[in-house]
Amino acid sequence: MNFVAVNENYKNRTCLKPKDLEKSPFVQFDKWFREAKSLNIIKPNAAFLSSVNGDCQPHSRTVMVKAYDEKGFIFFTECETDKVYQIDKNNNVALLFSWLEIERQVKLTAIAIKLSIKEAFFYFSNRGEQMGCWIEDDGFLSTRALLEKQLGRLLKTLYYKGIEQSDIFCGYRIVPKTAAFWQVCKDKLYQQFTYTKLKNGWEITEN
Ligand SMILES: Cc1cc2nc3c(=O)[nH]c(=O)nc-3n(C[C@H](O)[C@H](O)[C@H](O)COP(=O)(O)O)c2cc1C
Repeated sequence: MNFVAVNENYKNRTCLKPKDLEKSPFVQFDKWFREAKSLNIIKPNAAFLSSVNGDCQPHSRTVMVKAYDEKGFIFFTECETDKVYQIDKNNNVALLFSWLEIERQVKLTAIAIKLSIKEAFFYFSNRGEQMGCWIEDDGFLSTRALLEKQLGRLLKTLYYKGIEQSDIFCGYRIVPKTAAFWQVCKDKLYQQFTYTKLKNGWEITEN
């Protein structure tokens, strides 16, 4: 990876104008995600998920976002983890994509909704198709690749048995309430546009 080239790229980046922004934060995310991918950012689908415990103490950890579409951002996890216990009690979460090499971030405040087996299986079996964007893991951890094979098999079995939830692997959809796009750009030091969910559509403010 050529860090110098990437750095030059963002230094000369022209600032966004409100009219340049997509109406939907998901489409705007898709644009930025594809750019991050094309600039060979390491694991652009890695994001920091924050949830709170019963004492309102926030906890953050990395998750790999496996898919996104107009409904939200999907990740999978083992069910017996702190994040699942915390989300089950309080599903207000935050998700942060931080692309340091190009000085951009996308910060979501959101609710997390557990996927049914049917939905989880759907995301698994529609990799690469048009319904959204499936992000393949490049399998840098072999145990992780193995885990994913197991997850695929498990979902298939449960789906065909008509079971609605698994207590081994859980899938979640992160549904944003706000989405803030922050970047360094040429004329200003930085800029941030925040999308806020309204009843019909999204309001965009620069802040
Ligand atoms: C690069 C990377 C990717 C990860 N991807 C996931 C993931 O997709 N799902 C997951 O549950 N944990 C993932 N983890 C592990 C979590 O960050 C975390 O340590 C684990 O899930 C336990 O978190 P919890 O105890 O707060 O629930 C990943 C960690 C790293 C460093």
